[in-house]
This record gives sequence, C-alpha cells and structure tokens, in this order.
Amino acid sequence: MAVTKIMVTLTAVGVVMMSIMLPSKAIDTDKVRQLAAKYNVTCVLVFGDSSVDSGNNNRLDTTFKSNFLPYGRDFFGRRPTGRFSDGRLATDFIAEAIGYIKAIPAFLDPELRQQDLVHGVSFASAASGYDDLTANLTNVLALSKQVEYFRQYKIKLSQLVGERKAEEIIKNALTVLSMGTNDFLQNYYMEPIRPKQYTPEEYQNYLISCMFENIKKMRGLGISRLVVVGVPPIGCMPLVKTLMNQETCVEEYNNFSSAFNAKIKAKLSTLRTTLGIRGVYADAYGAVQNAMNNPKLYGLNETSKGCCGTGTIEYGDSCRGSTTCSNASQYVFWDAVHPTEKMYKIIADGAVESFDESLLG
Ligand SMILES: *[C@@H]1O[C@H](CO)[C@@H](O)[C@H](O)[C@H]1NC(C)=O
Ligand SMILES: *[C@@H]1O[C@H](CO)[C@@H](O)[C@H](O)[C@H]1NC(C)=O
Ligand SMILES: *[C@@H]1O[C@H](CO)[C@@H](O)[C@H](O)[C@H]1NC(C)=O
Ligand SMILES: *[C@@H]1O[C@H](CO)[C@@H](O)[C@H](O)[C@H]1NC(C)=O
Ligand SMILES: *[C@@H]1O[C@H](CO)[C@@H](O)[C@H](O)[C@H]1NC(C)=O
Repeated sequence: MAVTKIMVTLTAVGVVMMSIMLPSKAIDTDKVRQLAAKYNVTCVLVFGDSSVDSGNNNRLDTTFKSNFLPYGRDFFGRRPTGRFSDGRLATDFIAEAIGYIKAIPAFLDPELRQQDLVHGVSFASAASGYDDLTANLTNVLALSKQVEYFRQYKIKLSQLVGERKAEEIIKNALTVLSMGTNDFLQNYYMEPIRPKQYTPEEYQNYLISCMFENIKKMRGLGISRLVVVGVPPIGCMPLVKTLMNQETCVEEYNNFSSAFNAKIKAKLSTLRTTLGIRGVYADAYGAVQNAMNNPKLYGLNETSKGCCGTGTIEYGDSCRGSTTCSNASQYVFWDAVHPTEKMYKIIADGAVESFDESLLG
C-alpha cells in the first residue's frame, strides 16, 4: 500500500516536471514535504554568489554588499539582510518547500545560533565565481574558501550533535551551488588576465574543472545530493543591455550562458559514476527567459528594467537609498542585475518540481 502511494507521488512529480515551462500551478507543498521526509532530507547547504548569498558579504571588507534599503524592503520585517533582492532568494523558497525554515541564514551571521546549524546555512558570497581569481578581484569568498567554511561548519555541527549525527545531516542535506555569472561579467569580460590565457570556450572548460574540484572536496566532507543552478541569460540583465547600448537582450552574452550551462549539465551527468553524487541541474536560464516571454502568466508586466532607481544601471551600492517601483512583484528584475523575490520564487518552483528520486532516492 505504502509503495503504491509513493509511486503515485513520484509519477505526479514527473508529470509536473514536464510542464516546468508552463505557468506554475501552485506547488503541491505536501507532496514535496512527504518526498523530503521519505528520503530524510535534513536541510539545505548553499554555495555560490549573490544569487544565493544571504548576508556573508556583510562581514567582509568589500564594496559588494546590499545590507541597506531598499534591499530587503519585502523581506520579513522589511529588513535588509545582505540578500541582493527585495525579499527572499530561490534557496530560501526551496528550504521552505522542504519544510524546515523560511530563510537560510548566512554562516558568517554573528546572530547565528548553534541550533541553526542543524537547519542549514549559506556559505555563498556575492561577486564570487568558480574561478578563485573572480573572488580575489573583489575581496569576497572564493568557492575554495566557502568549502573551507563548510569544513568549519562540520566541526561545529559535530560538537553540537555528535560526529555520527553530523555525518548523517550532511549526507542527507540538499546542497545547492549557484554561481558563474561573475566569472564572465566581472572577470573574463572586464580583466585582461584570463582572456590572455584562455579563449572563451577554454575558459568555460577551466570553470567546469574548478567546479568539479570543489564538488570533489564537498564530497570528501560528506555531501551526496547536489543541485547546480545554471547561469541566467546574462545578456538580458538590464545592466548588460545598458552597457552594450542595446534595447534587446545581448545575444552574444546569452549564447555564452547557454554554452556554459550545457557544459555544467554534461559534467553533472557524470557525477554519479565519478563521485557517487546525485546531481540535478536547475534551469534558471529557462525560468527567466520563460518569464520574460510570457510575463502575464506570472502577473509580471515589466521584464526589461529593474525596480530600483532608473532600473538600467543601479545595483549594490548605487541602488542604496534609491526610489523604487511601487510593486516589485510585477518585475523580473529588482536591480539592474538581480531578480526580484517574485522571479526567485518562480525559479525555486521550477527547481522544486524537478526534485525526484534521481536526486533524493
Ligand atoms: C531515513 O531514516 C530512517 C530513520 O533514521 C532510516 O531507517 C531510513 O533507512 C532512512 N532512509 C533513507 C532513504 O536514508
Ligand atoms: C588575492 O590574491 C593575492 C595574491 O595571490 C593574495 O595575497 C590575497 O590574499 C588574495 N585575496 C583574497 C581575498 O583571496
Ligand atoms: C548565438 O547562437 C545562435 C544559435 O546557435 C546563432 O545562430 C547566433 O549566430 C549566435 N549569435 C552570436 C552573436 O554569437
Ligand atoms: C502587486 O502585483 C501582483 C502581481 O500583479 C499582485 O498580485 C499584487 O496584488 C500587487 N500588490 C499590490 C500591493 O498592489
Ligand atoms: C503594471 O501594472 C500596473 C497595474 O497593475 C500599472 O500601474 C503599471 O503601470 C504597469 N506597468 C507597466 C510597465 O506596464
């Protein structure tokens, strides 16, 4: 009986998966939670850039911060946290869907309590990338440093719940990795070092090898389930369109994103045999493109400008204290680079719908 029920649940998830590109029906939260409970999913651990940094950069000596209004104006308590959006991020919604917490705290948050460790944290750092040089340019946490903090997390968690339980929590955690945009925008297209060493395609291969090396280290620390979020259509970011003086999305940049995403997907498909990791790809590119092409389906009506300031150039410090649109839920972009909470919810819904036995089983 139980087995039949589970089969039905998985089938339903499979069907929803095929319709990812259709307007999202309300996610069946109960089903996702049942699945997470069945496979003992314990928490969400996050690595990446500003798409998933919940406040680590607040603690760093860098200009890449967002712990001031209007950032966070739609967050709980209308509080700026260091998230680069008006509200929550996709990873916060994923954690909520699985059923434990509504927002994933930053590992470096001084208010983080011991017991919070059990429910998952983010090691992510805005402006970081797969290439350690990218983080070095802006003095933020390189991916290798994020993994080092993960090692420290594991020690603290072991002190709290014991070594065996800590191993189990990490093994059953859902790990999310979301970065890559800054390797192009802040590094390859801005700085001379990498273009001298690599053609665009070689650079993408280099990034994939960095990704793999870090995933190997995470595996060594005990993770077994990994969601890798692809890069968004970088050429559609308001900032990129402004800099390239174009009304429409910059095709060359979008091609770069798609080519890199294809390489991520290909690498992910090998992780099971090479590292014993269950991996799935989360299609942020498709989600953003789909929302831009079919805004009405999501209640959106502004797909090209950000909600902050003029919507064409401001992000981070230049968005500080700016006037904003009245309703960010109608916008794809919150600032000239980053999605709104609404867009993050759409991305998270797509990801959560794709969580199935191949990831969790
Ligand atoms: C989940 O945890 C329970 C109890 O700790 C255990 O019996 C079961 O084998 C675990 N299932 C999986 C899929 O890990
Ligand atoms: C950046 O690289 C330099 C030179 O290798 C190093 O001294 C410095 O510590 C690095 N900074 C960060 C933030 O990693
Ligand atoms: C982008 O890719 C498409 C499809 O592969 C191709 O037709 C187009 O020429 C490319 N555009 C640029 C600017 O590279
Ligand atoms: C903002 O826009 C969304 C989507 O169109 C709508 O559902 C919501 O009611 C609006 N909120 C306010 C305060 O007008
Ligand atoms: C979006 O819709 C609201 C009403 O819901 C309207 O006030 C606003 O002007 C619209 N924005 C655009 C860019 O069409």
